[in-house]
Amino acid sequence: MKHEIFEKNTILLAIGILITISIGGLVQIVPLYFIDSTIEKVDGVRPYSPLELAGRNIYVREGCYLCHSQQIRPFRDEVERYGHYSLAAESMYDHPFQWGSKRTGPDLARVGGKYSNAWHVAHLIRPQDVVPESVMPMYKFLSEKELSFNDAGAHLSALRAAGDPYTDEQIAQAASDFATQAMGDAGEGDTDELLTRYPKAVIGDFDGNPEKITEMDALVAYLQMLGTLVDFTTYKPEGDMAR
Ligand code: HEC
Repeated sequence: MKHEIFEKNTILLAIGILITISIGGLVQIVPLYFIDSTIEKVDGVRPYSPLELAGRNIYVREGCYLCHSQQIRPFRDEVERYGHYSLAAESMYDHPFQWGSKRTGPDLARVGGKYSNAWHVAHLIRPQDVVPESVMPMYKFLSEKELSFNDAGAHLSALRAAGDPYTDEQIAQAASDFATQAMGDAGEGDTDELLTRYPKAVIGDFDGNPEKITEMDALVAYLQMLGTLVDFTTYKPEGDMAR
């Protein structure tokens, strides 16, 4: 028996294990150095608009990720329930990403457009009003908290430093885009320009109170765009590994 020498000698066994693991590691790691990017280019994915970004910050602050994942795995049960499996590109502008692993509530990666703004507001104010058996906490205070995002430009610049391709124009217009998205035509900015800068941004007074921009407006704007940027009727996976 040749393996007897390994079984009787711990040091040799350790060296043997080390060699085996190294080969396995190399097979996984080396190819990554020879491909340009591990994230395929996908049409439609863009950095967050200032209002969506503010909403995303609230999502992180409130710890929504503790109960909700944002990653649809490529398994049939998930795809049938939530829609097309998540692409790496869809979270490439997330700092940090919100994939999560805990699903006390459903995955939210494609919740955008699934419900009306009014549904989200009612649900966040008191989830049990729309889903009686829900164990989700209430977030009524979000509609009472006015939100000013005067430093929106600074947020965008910081994200640019982290690699997000915000343009100078987007940074200069950040504060105005923020208000325009939450107020629509009632705001001072131009909604068409906003949509050229941030295609598919959902514009509107989300919380039903046109007087002020609240944290609720921002959070709902964020929820309503989740998973909507890529058009899956035309999307074709790239490369040999595509299925
Ligand atoms: C304690 C766990 C918990 C936390 C924290 C939580 N949720 Fe939920 N959430 C749930 C559960 C359970 C459901 C399913 C029942 C329901 O719809 O209320 C749900 C449902 C949802 C839905 C509807 C999803 C769908 O596809 O029907 C949305 C949207 C949502 N939550 C957003 C949020 C946001 C935003 C936050 C943070 C502000 C949050 N949740 C925090 C547990 C949680």
